[in-house]
Amino acid sequence: MSKVLDIIKKAQSTHCLTKEEIVELLNCNECDQELFMAADRVRSQFVGDQVHLRGLIEFSNICQQNCCYCGLRRDNVKVKRYKLLPNAIIELAKKAKDYDYKTVVLQSGESQSYTVTEMEHIIRSIKALGLAITLSLGEKSKEEYQKYREAGADRYLLRIETTDEKVYESLHPGMSLTNRMRCLVDLKNLGYEVGTGCLVGLPNQTMESLAGDILFFKSLDADMIGLGPFIPNEDTPLAQEAGGNFTLSIKVMAITRLLLPDANIPATTAMETLNKNGRMIALQSGANVVMPNVTEGEYREMYMLYPGKICINDTPKHCRGCITGKIQGIGRQVSTEYGYRRRKK
Ligand code: SAM
Ligand code: SF4
Ligand code: FES
Repeated sequence: MSKVLDIIKKAQSTHCLTKEEIVELLNCNECDQELFMAADRVRSQFVGDQVHLRGLIEFSNICQQNCCYCGLRRDNVKVKRYKLLPNAIIELAKKAKDYDYKTVVLQSGESQSYTVTEMEHIIRSIKALGLAITLSLGEKSKEEYQKYREAGADRYLLRIETTDEKVYESLHPGMSLTNRMRCLVDLKNLGYEVGTGCLVGLPNQTMESLAGDILFFKSLDADMIGLGPFIPNEDTPLAQEAGGNFTLSIKVMAITRLLLPDANIPATTAMETLNKNGRMIALQSGANVVMPNVTEGEYREMYMLYPGKICINDTPKHCRGCITGKIQGIGRQVSTEYGYRRRKK
C-alpha cells in the first residue's frame, strides 16, 4: 500500500509514470480515494475550478463503420437513421449560443452523407456566431480535415478506443489502429486541439492495455481526453459482454489527469449512465469539462450508442439548468470562457 501511495505522490509531482507503475495503481483497490484526491488537486492547480460546458449536437446517426460495441454500427438494422439538414444544425447551434454555451460539438456517425462543401458551410455559419467548434466525425483524409480547419473548426475528438492492437482489430472490422493514429497525427499537425480517449472494460482489454492507452495520450500530448466505460448494447455483437466498471473508469481518468495536468478532461455521459452521480464524481476526481446534449426531440433517442443513455427525454433548456445546478452544488462554477487548453509547464 505504501508503494502505491509513493506512486501517486510521484505522479502528482512529476506527471510521469512507467507502464508498470500505472498497472500497479490500476490493480490496487486500497488507495482509490488518495488517487482521486490527488487528481482533484492537480486539476485545481492546473486548470482551476471552472467547468467548461460544450453543447453536444448529435446531427446524424448514419454510419458506414461497424464498431462492434456501438449501437450506430452499420449492421444494426434496428436503428432508424436520420440526418439533420444543414440549416437545422445551424439553428441548434444558435440555440446553444442562446443557452450560453461557448463551444458546440458537432458529432455524427462516420459517413459521407454530407458533402465537404456542406460541412464547410455549416462550420463557417456556426463560427460566424462566435462559437468555438469541436468536430467528431470519425476518420477522414488529411485534405478533408484541412478544409474543415480552414473553415474554422477549432478542435477534433477522435478516441483511439484502445491502443491494444489485437483488441482494436477484433472490435473494428475493416479499420486499423495505424490509420486511427494517422488521423490523430494529421489533426495535430493541422493545428486542431486534439481530443482522444478510450473505452474502459472492452473484451480482452487488460490493465496493461489501459496503461498503454494512458501513455499514448501523454505521448500524443492530447489536448482533451474523453474516457468512459464500455456499456454493452443488446443490438450489437457484444450484447453478452460484461461491460466496463465505473470505479475503474474513474481511476483511468484520474491517472490521466495526473499525467496530463493541463489537458481538458470531460466527465462523460457514459459515467453518469453507470452511476447516477457519475459526472460529479468525475469532476471531483480530475475532470473539468461537461458536454450537455443540445440535440432536440426524437433525435436524442435515435442516437442510442448504448442503453440507459442519460437525458434522452430532457430538453436542452432543462439540461442546461440541471448541469449548472449540479456544478454549483459541488462548489464549482460554470466557465464563461471558450476553454481552450492553456499550457502550464
Ligand atoms: N463516429 C465518431 C467516432 O467514432 O469517432 C463519433 C461518434 S461515436 C458514437 C463517439 C464515441 O462513442 C466513440 O468514440 C465510442 O468510444 C463511444 N461509444 C460507442 N459505443 C459505445 C458503448 N457501447 N459504450 C460506451 N461508449 C460507446
Ligand atoms: Fe460509427 Fe463512431 Fe459508432 Fe464506430 S463508434 S460505429 S464510427 S458512430
Ligand atoms: Fe440532462 Fe441533467 S444534464 S437532465
